[in-house]
Amino acid sequence: MADTSIRTMLLEFVDGNGASHIRELHIEVLRHRPGTPEHTIRARLSEAVEDGLLDRLGDGFYDIYAEDEEMTSVVSYPQRCSAWGVASYRGNCDGRLLKDLLLRYKVASCADPMEGSGTSRDVVEGLNRYKNKGIRYWGGDLRTGFDLTRQELPGRFDFVWIHPPYWNIVRYGSGSADLSNCEDYERFRELLMACLRRCYEALELGGRLAVLIGDVRRQGRYFAIVKDVLNFPYGQLRSIIIKLQHHCTSDRKGYPKLEDVPIRHEYCVVFKKVQSSGETPIGLVDMPLLR
Ligand SMILES: C[S@@+](CC[C@H](N)C(=O)[O-])C[C@H]1O[C@@H](n2cnc3c(N)ncnc32)[C@H](O)[C@@H]1O
Repeated sequence: MADTSIRTMLLEFVDGNGASHIRELHIEVLRHRPGTPEHTIRARLSEAVEDGLLDRLGDGFYDIYAEDEEMTSVVSYPQRCSAWGVASYRGNCDGRLLKDLLLRYKVASCADPMEGSGTSRDVVEGLNRYKNKGIRYWGGDLRTGFDLTRQELPGRFDFVWIHPPYWNIVRYGSGSADLSNCEDYERFRELLMACLRRCYEALELGGRLAVLIGDVRRQGRYFAIVKDVLNFPYGQLRSIIIKLQHHCTSDRKGYPKLEDVPIRHEYCVVFKKVQSSGETPIGLVDMPLLR
């Protein structure tokens, strides 16, 4: 801890403790660096606020579980908050967008059938612990034995969050059920649609399905996965949120310049279930569930 910078110390303390009072942050720094002047601690706190991570210091509280009520259809989290999920799990997402959606929609039950490193599980656990929310959660993933292409979600939920592989940009497993293991885009699309359908089936009437997805460029060709998600024929489209991407592999120095502009955003598409399951949307062919 002696070599750790004050800023890192503050962030680590907040990540590990959830909601924190500014006074606690000061005490924590002084515990490790007795005699640190108050203005130094304040300066490091302001830097962290500017980075967007400690962005709600209202009323003397820093609270990673507070709702960002100013949220718009463009979100950006330049620094990943390490309180949720496992940062080293490829393709893991920051939990802030999910946290804000859960609070905005006053969610009582949430499922994530592709939870990967458990970001959504941790977000819900934190909201329950620090905000007394009592959100019921279920999560699964192929790597822990749950195959969304073949299995149904256990029960009904008023919010389903799904963050599928962006085709085969990151390979998670080698089996044919793994969406990241499809060579062919058409096969990936088919499996993705079957997965979305299953998530939709598990929604309560009035519930929402949020799909976090990004597009892919392969050998110059652009695959707009979001276009297929937007064409999902169930529910009512309610939001398209653009989430800026940071720390991409191709940001590294020495990466060759692409002919076309690099992709630096992903989408969170939100649908609302406005009619009961089993009804085929007017004018659309019913989409089969894989069995
Ligand atoms: C983009 S990652 C999700 C990351 C997660 N949001 C996080 O923050 O750690 C996509 C996940 O989908 C899982 N997956 C792929 N095919 C699946 C399937 N058929 N059923 C369930 N999970 C699947 C992968 O194992 C991977 O963990």
